[in-house]
Amino acid sequence: MAIERTYAMIKPDGVARNLIGEVISRIERKGYKIVALKQMQISRETAEKHYGEHKGKPFFEGLVSFITSGPVVAMVLEGEKAISGWRTMMGATNPADATPGSIRGDYASTIDENVAHGSDAPETAAREIGIFFPELA
Ligand code: RTP
Ligand code: MG
Repeated sequence: MAIERTYAMIKPDGVARNLIGEVISRIERKGYKIVALKQMQISRETAEKHYGEHKGKPFFEGLVSFITSGPVVAMVLEGEKAISGWRTMMGATNPADATPGSIRGDYASTIDENVAHGSDAPETAAREIGIFFPELA
C-alpha cells in the first residue's frame, strides 16, 4: 500500500460554472479521503509561489491572472497512489486531448481554463500542501 496525500484544487472556472459538487462527488465515489477543504481567494503572491515552476514561460502571466480571478476550492486528498490517481481523474492538461470520462475531458475545452489542478509528484504535493494548508505540513 502506498498511501499518499495530494493537493487538489477546483479552479475559478469550475467554481463559477457550479462544478464544485460534480468534482467532489467524483472524488468521494473514487474513495479518496478529503483530509482538508476550503473555498478561498488566492492572492497574487500565493499564485506566483504555487506556479513558480512556470515563471518566465509565455503563459505565466495569464495563468496567475486566471487562478486569482475568482474563488477556488482547495483540498488535500488522501488515498492509495492518490497523486497519480487524481491526475488520471483530471485528464490531460489540454482538455482537447483529455479522455472523455475524465474531468477535463468532460467539462473543459480550452487549456487556459481546465477546471482542476493536481500535484504532479510527491515533492510537489508536499510543497503545495505546505502553501495552502501549512497546518498539515
Ligand atoms: P495544473 O498544474 O494547473 O494542475 O496543470 P498541469 O499540471 O496539468 O499543467 P502544467 O504544465 O503544470 O501547467 C499549468 C497550467 O498552465 C496552463 N498551461 N498553458 N499554453 C500552454 O502551453 C500552457 N501550458 C500550460 C494550463 O492551464 C495548465 O493547467
Ligand atoms: Mg502542474
